[in-house]
Amino acid sequence: MAKQRVFSGIQPSGVPTLGNYLGAIRNWVPMQDQYDTIYCVVDLHAITVWQDPKELTAQSREMAAALLACGLDPERCILFLQSHVHAHARLAWIFNCVARLGWLNRMTQFKDKAGKNQEASSAGLYVYPNLMAADILAYHASRVPVGDDQRQHLELANDIAQKFNHDYATDFFPTIEPHIMGVAARVMSLRDGTKKMSKSDPSDQSRINLTDDADTISLKIRRAKTDPEPLPSEAAGLEGRPEARNLVGILAAITDTTPDAILRDHGGQGFGTFKSALADALVAHLSPIASDMRRLLADPGAVDALLRRGADRARAIADPIVDRAHEIVGFLPPR
Ligand code: TYM
Repeated sequence: MAKQRVFSGIQPSGVPTLGNYLGAIRNWVPMQDQYDTIYCVVDLHAITVWQDPKELTAQSREMAAALLACGLDPERCILFLQSHVHAHARLAWIFNCVARLGWLNRMTQFKDKAGKNQEASSAGLYVYPNLMAADILAYHASRVPVGDDQRQHLELANDIAQKFNHDYATDFFPTIEPHIMGVAARVMSLRDGTKKMSKSDPSDQSRINLTDDADTISLKIRRAKTDPEPLPSEAAGLEGRPEARNLVGILAAITDTTPDAILRDHGGQGFGTFKSALADALVAHLSPIASDMRRLLADPGAVDALLRRGADRARAIADPIVDRAHEIVGFLPPR
């Protein structure tokens, strides 16, 4: 039987954070052995907010290097840049005409990103979820490993697929299953336990970047916001303590255990010893990734070549699917 197809994406809008790593990338790696996996650096999505062109080029390459350093293997997955495969934009246009304004108006991520000044946001930011649906459905992918913040976008993608199927009386697009994993599906800011850790947060102290060196990681963890109480001895005691819950969740995720197991060791202690255990675990886990990334970026031409080969393979899957969607819609075939 054909393997189920997995698709996921990440924006090259900065260096990947610990949130991206624990919430998504780390789960992408083992999926390479079980599924037909397609992973995409979504540069079309990145320009929904302003990106300096030179930085965008560098960050796209860096993101690809980071994904390779985290364990994506171009022999076992397809890794490519979204702008290299035109099928995404072609299908997104059709989805712009399928999705309803009322659906887009409910998207919380648009409201968060647009902030108070929605009128000044790009139209691209508004239709962002339609492009995301196109990313997935251009491959007929049915499983999508993401962090918790993408849940609403995936529900919308299913609404779009269903409405397309209904309007054109077809069963062409499959249902998408979100694959949202474990304690780290929502890693929070180190400065505010109620805000998500994000590569676009203006404060670098709010996040761990996969490129941070050992001293930077230790300093950021030492300065991470906490509360004055000692750690509880079980996870239920983290209720109402967002910063403590976040740090315990991070240590549990990075050491592949549960918050309860972490608290069996650290319950009753202040944050001092706990924070140094957390910093040590992060440094041990992330240093090899940062050094592998530096090694890969020493030969940018090799990274670019690999992305071009990935795009050729992606096109071979997506082009016929999107050609067929064009036929279903009734566009006259171009040849
Ligand atoms: P992006 O680039 O914001 O994030 C990439 C992945 O990292 C996850 N993530 C987190 N997980 C846990 N805690 C956090 N603090 C955290 N921050 C980010 C995200 O959930 C995501 O899985 N719209 C997507 C990119 C995208 C996409 C797609 C994903 C475009 N097309 C198609 C899946 C399928 C985004 O902005 O991810």
